[in-house]
Amino acid sequence: MTEPKKEIILSGIRATGNLHIGNYFGALRKFVAVQNDYDCNFFIADLHALTTNPDPEQLHANVKSVLAEYLAAGLDPEKSTIYVQSDVPETTEMYLLLNMHVGIGELMRTVSFKDKARKALGLSPENDEEDIEKQVCGSDTGRRVNAGLLTYPTLMAADILIHKATKVPVGKDQLQHLELTRRFARRFNSFYNVDLFPEPYDFDFGGAPIKVPGLDGSGKMGKSEGNCIYLVDDPKVLRKKVMRAVTDEGPQTPDSQMSEPIANLFTLLELTSTPDVVEHFRKAYADCSIRYGDLKKQLAEDILAVTTPIRERVNDILADDGYLAKVLAAGAERARERAAATLSEMRHVMGIRKF
Ligand code: TYM
Repeated sequence: MTEPKKEIILSGIRATGNLHIGNYFGALRKFVAVQNDYDCNFFIADLHALTTNPDPEQLHANVKSVLAEYLAAGLDPEKSTIYVQSDVPETTEMYLLLNMHVGIGELMRTVSFKDKARKALGLSPENDEEDIEKQVCGSDTGRRVNAGLLTYPTLMAADILIHKATKVPVGKDQLQHLELTRRFARRFNSFYNVDLFPEPYDFDFGGAPIKVPGLDGSGKMGKSEGNCIYLVDDPKVLRKKVMRAVTDEGPQTPDSQMSEPIANLFTLLELTSTPDVVEHFRKAYADCSIRYGDLKKQLAEDILAVTTPIRERVNDILADDGYLAKVLAAGAERARERAAATLSEMRHVMGIRKF
């Protein structure tokens, strides 16, 4: 009896530095959990990292550290195809072809583009699309708002569609990119009257993708926010970061509503602690007996319980260049096989030279 075909999962993380617990709970933890049951493909997005023009040596180092952290967290190259985005050049050709079916306007309206362009131009969140457009079109912004940044979602769509993946484990911030990917896939299929690309959806074991908050009171944890707890943080450093988390003056009346910094601490506690621990602190909050110092101490230890095994494995893996090279060579070969087949179908559909 032939085994039924497994559904195809694909996801990636940019090579922009060490992974933080937002990457872990939003993405990497799920990659590890699905390896046995799906056709899994996980890559290191080095091309997406180029939008900020990183130092070349730093980019090399970042690709290596993300790979080592993938493996240390439990990704198994025997079960998953693990590769570097730029090792599959078929993706970049698909990106070019797909761009012919993508509107500049829809890319300019993407939240991630607007956020990044605002930052690069020194604009504030109140500045709308028109302000961004005026600056981008009316002055020479050079590489600060480059074409790669604008077409970031097309490259991401190519990453997904080249594998014909249907499930994409990501954090909440990537949902709009997935929506665009579905739109591009539909548009392509309908323009050429084919059924080439399936529509991919986010994947979180039936739940909705999450946003891991920072410890600075508001917003998400992110590298550019400078509020990250890294998987490789030394216990001392990690405890210090957690103990410094922003809090408030404490609940003044029973069952009062939580301020954002406190709700964020509870979000992190829910991700890392056992239900009885969460329940204990929720009760203490509700009856005003809570001591934030106790909560933070518990939170730091529970985060460490997740990160310590990863941190302890990572240095050995990093030291084994031969092994890392082998993993990537095998991953690239497997990924390219499917990528080449999809690209060839796409070229054919679009009428690119056949004879
Ligand atoms: P990147 O590198 O910004 O983030 C990698 C993954 O980590 C998740 N993540 C978070 N999840 C929850 N809370 C947070 N605070 C948090 N911070 C980061 C992200 O949602 C993401 O899943 N564009 C992607 C990389 C990419 C990709 C793809 C992903 C390129 N091509 C194709 C999936 C499929 C990105 O920038 O991720």
